[in-house]
Amino acid sequence: MKNMKKIIVKLNNRSYPIFIGKNILSNKSLLSGINERNFAIVTNRKIKSLHLTKIKNSLVKKNKIILSDGEKYKNQESTNKIYNYLLKNKYSRDSCLVAFGGGVIGDITGYAAATYQRGINFIQIPTTLLSMVDSSVGGKTGINHPLGKNMIGAFHQPIAVIIDTEILKSLPKRQFNAGMAEVIKYGIIKDKVFFDWISKNKEKINKQDSESIIKIVKKSCEIKANIVSLDEKEKNIRALLNLGHTFGHAIENYLGYGKWLHGEAIACGFLIAASVAIQNNTMNIADYNKIKSLLKDFNLPTKLPKNINIEKLFKIMLLDKKVKNNEMVYVLPKNIGQAYITNKITKNIVIKALKDHVK
Ligand code: GLY
Repeated sequence: MKNMKKIIVKLNNRSYPIFIGKNILSNKSLLSGINERNFAIVTNRKIKSLHLTKIKNSLVKKNKIILSDGEKYKNQESTNKIYNYLLKNKYSRDSCLVAFGGGVIGDITGYAAATYQRGINFIQIPTTLLSMVDSSVGGKTGINHPLGKNMIGAFHQPIAVIIDTEILKSLPKRQFNAGMAEVIKYGIIKDKVFFDWISKNKEKINKQDSESIIKIVKKSCEIKANIVSLDEKEKNIRALLNLGHTFGHAIENYLGYGKWLHGEAIACGFLIAASVAIQNNTMNIADYNKIKSLLKDFNLPTKLPKNINIEKLFKIMLLDKKVKNNEMVYVLPKNIGQAYITNKITKNIVIKALKDHVK
């Protein structure tokens, strides 16, 4: 198809394509190579009414499982809803789920696919910028537990990811900006040229110029696909993708899931991580300021809410999956374009970085 980009996530016999383009959901032949017979689409009411008719292949006639919308529904109950539907309708092992929605739908659907009858296939059709550039790629699936975000889950790769950037036109601006946090993250951890390109083209991106959007989605997916190919199960470099996430997850949990969007929480987390790095003598203030300024260009928070209890926030951070042998593991920027992983950061340094970011 003209104007459609294709990236392969290389994972030997589990390799899969990411298709990116404008209006590609109307391409009838997109899934013609996939021979699963029993598809079921998992989505929510809003996405169904806004976008389902855009899918022009036979998928659209398939069965739908409608979940409630929002991070607070990323739980066991929603997963059970999928299992119930599949069991009642006698879906067998050769079935395929299709996650049609944002990160919440993608993560729950992937987890249900990973666990239903010990694992069935699934396809990701992400509908938010954040899920297009991050959560739909790489096979992290899961749900939240009352004691922590994404605490229950599995690595389970999709068999294809289909990204139709036209869908972003109806995405609320706040959600778009939250997705930009993950895009900016790729620049910080891996690609200074990309970071500078985003800074230079921020107006075009903010206006959702088609070419610029395809460029940032493609570049982000390329960086992520490359990292996932090298380290699927996060034994080493995949952890770089967690920049700002230890802080961000704690902020989300502290405030109550959904109060701040994930992208907003990790954006503030990038700056806290950068501030830890400055104290650790591995980053300079000029780079910190460049990151801060770019986050502001996309209206992302650079400070924690007033009156936040830092000790309580720190305790929540200790629940994060990034604790290894009782030591907190941090991802810190070295400069724009490079990041590193360390377990050698004292609590005092982290508390100071947190305090310096309270409004
Ligand atoms: N969102 C981080 C990862 O997929 O590893």
